[in-house]
Amino acid sequence: MEGVGHPVWRALVAAHGGLGMVCTEFVRVGRGPLHLPSLLRRVERTADLPLSVQILGSDPRKLAEAARGLWASGVDVVDINLGCPSRRVVSKGAGAALLRDPDHLYDLLARVRGDTQGLLSAKIRAGLDSSDQLDALGDAVQAAGLDMLTIHPRTCAQGYSGRADWGLIRRLSQRLSIPVVGNGDCLFAADVDRMRTETGCAAVMIGRGALRNPWIFAQAEALRAGGRVAEPNGRQVLAFLKELTAAYMGVLGDRPGLVCGRLKELLRYLGRSLDDGGAFIREALRSPDTPSLLEVAESHLGALPARELDLGAAAAHAPARLPQPRPERL
Ligand SMILES: Cc1cc2nc3c(=O)[nH]c(=O)nc-3n(C[C@H](O)[C@H](O)[C@H](O)COP(=O)(O)O)c2cc1C
Repeated sequence: MEGVGHPVWRALVAAHGGLGMVCTEFVRVGRGPLHLPSLLRRVERTADLPLSVQILGSDPRKLAEAARGLWASGVDVVDINLGCPSRRVVSKGAGAALLRDPDHLYDLLARVRGDTQGLLSAKIRAGLDSSDQLDALGDAVQAAGLDMLTIHPRTCAQGYSGRADWGLIRRLSQRLSIPVVGNGDCLFAADVDRMRTETGCAAVMIGRGALRNPWIFAQAEALRAGGRVAEPNGRQVLAFLKELTAAYMGVLGDRPGLVCGRLKELLRYLGRSLDDGGAFIREALRSPDTPSLLEVAESHLGALPARELDLGAAAAHAPARLPQPRPERL
């Protein structure tokens, strides 16, 4: 996830277990000459997990060139972003703009596919401003020869409003023979199995749920296996934050402002598990630097028992509280 899905965060979340694959935020592939080394710098494997790298662009030759470079460097899956609603991206014909015309989408994807051989997937939304063309979009992805499709079933116009329409995941899962990955509103571990059962999707992708609760994947795995589901308390959340801070300092230590900014961005989600009317987040966001931010975290989280955090396998509050992501993110 752009702005928050740093490899350092991914590694810490993955260390709790339960993940099947890790996906990167999008990497832009412009129309100019491709600079492979800078593309590959964005690629960092998390533990031994399969890695999917997402690329965003509108030039099939460039996308194919980038994909070939990524596979050659050991990336498992290359994913094409077909959902970014940012005006800057859409005006260049990339991201969500590619959902406008299924025939054009087919041509673009078929050209990328024709030029490449590794595992190739795409991530779509339900459509630009309606889901009327969803079947045609799914057909285009499959007919072009892609190996997998992920759908976040809200239109771009919807942003994050309302609920993700899981009926659309079911529709594509039933229609297509390639694996369909469901995404959207799995905010608790219990939602993962519910999405699988209700939609028949091949796998579940979790976004904001993992920002809010780094244990969600491990909890979903435990639920599935009928094992004990960990319910983190404040001390454990604090330990996670401290570990994350140390890891960020390890790679971004020369830019302390960036470390503090990244922690604040994450706390906008993680801090929603407290039932305190947003007091912790507000105070944390006012912190001038990382040490003071950690002091704030200590004072708010240090003594909290698990029952006072909404980080169990199912919602204690309905609905789960989440911030509104910035408009440029899909
Ligand atoms: C901060 C943020 C950054 C995101 N960045 C990306 C991105 O780079 N590529 C992408 O395909 N989706 C991105 N998304 C969308 C998520 O992958 C996901 O589709 C969406 O949040 C719905 O799933 P969720 O309910 O599990 O969060 C981003 C979402 C957020 C909140």
